[in-house]
Amino acid sequence: MCGIVGYTGKRNVTNVVMVGLERLEYRGYDSCGIATVNGGLKTRKTAGRLQQLKDILARDPLDGTAGIGHTRWATHGTVTDENAHPFTDSARRIALVHNGIIENYRELRARLKKSGHRFLSDTDTEVIVHLVASFYRQDLAAAIRRAAALLKGSFSLAIIAEREPGRVYAVKLGSPLVIGRGRDEHIVASDAPALVGIARRMLPLQDGELAILERDRVTIQDFKGRKVERPFVKLELKQKAISRGRYPHFMRKEIFEQPAVIRENIARRFTRPGISLDPEFLFYPDEIEKVERIVIQACGTSWHAGLVGRYFFEKLCRIPVSVEVSSELRTSEFVYDGRTMMLAISQSGETADTLAALREASLREIRSLAVLNTRRSSIDREADSSVYIHAGPEIGVASTKAYTAQLFTLLGLALYFARVRGTLPDSELRAIAGHCRKLPAQLAKVLRLDRRIKDVAARLSFAHDFIFLGRGINYPTALEGALKLKEIAYVHATGHPAGEMKHGPISLITDNVPVIGIAPRDRVYDRMVANLAEAKARNGRIICVGTEGDRDLAELAETVLPIPAVPEYLSPLLAVIPLQLLAYHVAVLRGCDVDKPRNLAKSVTVE
Ligand code: G6P
Repeated sequence: MCGIVGYTGKRNVTNVVMVGLERLEYRGYDSCGIATVNGGLKTRKTAGRLQQLKDILARDPLDGTAGIGHTRWATHGTVTDENAHPFTDSARRIALVHNGIIENYRELRARLKKSGHRFLSDTDTEVIVHLVASFYRQDLAAAIRRAAALLKGSFSLAIIAEREPGRVYAVKLGSPLVIGRGRDEHIVASDAPALVGIARRMLPLQDGELAILERDRVTIQDFKGRKVERPFVKLELKQKAISRGRYPHFMRKEIFEQPAVIRENIARRFTRPGISLDPEFLFYPDEIEKVERIVIQACGTSWHAGLVGRYFFEKLCRIPVSVEVSSELRTSEFVYDGRTMMLAISQSGETADTLAALREASLREIRSLAVLNTRRSSIDREADSSVYIHAGPEIGVASTKAYTAQLFTLLGLALYFARVRGTLPDSELRAIAGHCRKLPAQLAKVLRLDRRIKDVAARLSFAHDFIFLGRGINYPTALEGALKLKEIAYVHATGHPAGEMKHGPISLITDNVPVIGIAPRDRVYDRMVANLAEAKARNGRIICVGTEGDRDLAELAETVLPIPAVPEYLSPLLAVIPLQLLAYHVAVLRGCDVDKPRNLAKSVTVE
């Protein structure tokens, strides 16, 4: 949460920082600000979106030799101009932006106040700039190191100083930071998209490191001042992947990218013969054979993917699986031991609770595997081994293409495990691969429902509450459909296992509460239909995602959104698409900011 950028080089500093912030806006967007050094330190900051900052800069421009910027997701202190970053010390010698949380800020603030420091905001961040200033004589790096030693919590920082006009200091402990190298210029940011167009090579900072960026070089040291040498690697990200193109929203672009993403994954996984994982998958066959239990942990949409993943592993590998929300798992009794394998799922690879639960696992010598979209992320480094979902950058805050890519990757993993454990004959693997190869065309077909779903959205936009029902492997689909609607359209929606309806949710059903049933022809179809009939008998308006040509469902439901007939294990990949589009259209009709929903951020790096 929060995006930070720092730049030093030959270009217009303000422009580079502003473009970087725009690309990081998905990390938080309630306030923003920029500081440059040009003779003295100059700052502009405001509550509100980047457009407001742009307006301020148009009236009151800034330039300089080095600059830093910030886009905020508020934790400590409400959304005001004063609480926006950057912060400066009282003498305005240093300016600083921060991503993370300083847990001991109250005591530090009290101590600094006693020695005469004046605070202008309610944030935890402001203590950092005063602390650094209190140690700063000649050597800023030394002052930063001394301050870092006193800070508890997580912090990524970008710092500039009046006396060091061509330098940006970058510090990482917890929240992500990556350095980019261009020709005669360097940039540092919370995430790689901010580097595109400037850098050809990149270097993720590691926890406990301090980097000093100058136009022509970067020096890195640890918090003890010892020099760190690590090579830059090629920045693979391309401009096209991070722009909206012809789409009005990133979310829409990402929904429509799903056939291509799954095609890419099929090409990577179904090599002949068998199933391939990424080279970063480092488990030996005997380790896989020994696994007695799997605990999957994740947050949000990734957690829903984990719930589907459980079916894959239980069905194909006969391994018992539990699926936990990371924030709950990490504070639980954590009764797992070395016979368990942990599977962490995260699009960003930076979710603080998922990372913390992973660390709990490594303390207990539990082997861990991460399913990730982002290479070299914190979770990638922490896990024993990783498998990537190859979805490309996902920028819309509501996850869509990463979800289906996670499902596909979990299926691939379960197939791999099943092969190693001898629970999947060749013939069955071949049949599954055959079904998977049809998926891109089938996904494209479901996406062609777009216009119809838009009409359904218009018909349902009166409703303030929605109930989503699913069973078995599509119970998580119901949860995901409800989450999408809540996230981006601000409509109250709940997802339930249809069998639980009679234990509570049925009392909510009226003709004002649409019931969205996920009812493909599968093992639990008859029960699902019976539950939907019960809802209809209570005046519920039934909208279904069902298998093409299902006449029975057509009789029951006001609308059926058809998906092609596929084996049960593939149905969640198709059934979620109409629900993504439904949420999208309801949100657009309600005038919501689809890509930047209220109060949310894409990468949740605080606990
Ligand atoms: C936030 C995002 C969700 C995402 C969740 C977990 O809540 O808005 O889209 O599913 O974090 O993120 P991760 O990066 O760990 O998958």
